[in-house]
Amino acid sequence: MEKQLRIGVLTSGGDAPGMNAAIRAVVRSGISSGMQVFGIRYGYEGLFDVNIYEMDARRVSDIIHRGGTMLRTARCQQMMTEEGQIRAADFVKMFKLDALVTIGGNGTFHGAYALSKLGVNVIAIPASIDMDIDCTEYTIGFDTAINTAMEAINRIRDTSFSHERCSVVEVMGRDSGNIALWCALVGGAEDVLIPEEGSADVEAIIERIINCRSRGKRHSLIVVAEGVGGSAELARIIEEKLGIESRTIILGHLQRGGAPTAIDRMHASAMGCMAVEAIKNSEFNRAVIYKEGRHGLMELEAALSLEKKFESEMHDMIRMLSI
Ligand code: F6P
Repeated sequence: MEKQLRIGVLTSGGDAPGMNAAIRAVVRSGISSGMQVFGIRYGYEGLFDVNIYEMDARRVSDIIHRGGTMLRTARCQQMMTEEGQIRAADFVKMFKLDALVTIGGNGTFHGAYALSKLGVNVIAIPASIDMDIDCTEYTIGFDTAINTAMEAINRIRDTSFSHERCSVVEVMGRDSGNIALWCALVGGAEDVLIPEEGSADVEAIIERIINCRSRGKRHSLIVVAEGVGGSAELARIIEEKLGIESRTIILGHLQRGGAPTAIDRMHASAMGCMAVEAIKNSEFNRAVIYKEGRHGLMELEAALSLEKKFESEMHDMIRMLSI
């Protein structure tokens, strides 16, 4: 008789809508494949605290539509050290887990890679509202986050129109401008500031607003990524230099919560099933990716060595469409 595989699943780093749908897919496809599935709470932290429990199909009932993560999450400091990584790997072996599925962003992927080098069989599923993992064209949570931000921007536009103001909206993204770029495009912003392009060129923004006003535009929207920051100061300068009433709105963690969209549930379900399929085929130390319209697997080491070049077309389009 074949040995029953024991697999663990955890969510780590910043939460993202759709993580629950991914957990559900791992648990249910794992059980369907005859595996024993264990949930690890608080991300990698749960390995150190032995915060682990067996999950049956009912444990993941009624979570597909919920934001956040039922397993909770944490940014685990211990996993940043070699000593911590060795301890975490020892725990996985002690608990006789044949494989570990980690769901999260860049930091989670690096943690998984460190464990793989210590002999743990890992599969990493990309989930981050930032969509900043270079090996994949999609990370779970992005669609929900940008739709949430877009809805907020729609509301801000209404009041900005009525008062003929300039609204400076700060969205998430410490190192990545993806959320800001998408929000600026779909929200009809005059301009966007993103970390990939360095610090804010305030003079250029002022000039854009003047140009737009001279074309008859009566209200303006500037989107700023968190990583650039300074949105309150920017609003103050615009008001001072142009005499246009300006307001700052920081959307913050609002963007990380809420029911996942259909797109996020679909990717999460497909990626969770693909992770289990990889384990079944003993294809370990892989990242689940989405590329050219298909889900697939990529060696974790190769996945982490990729570096996507920033392409400025989207920014050019935002500016062109805001005349
Ligand atoms: O998960 C990604 C992210 O939301 C970034 O956009 C943001 O910079 C960061 O997490 C915020 O992290 P925390 O929730 O720990 O403040």
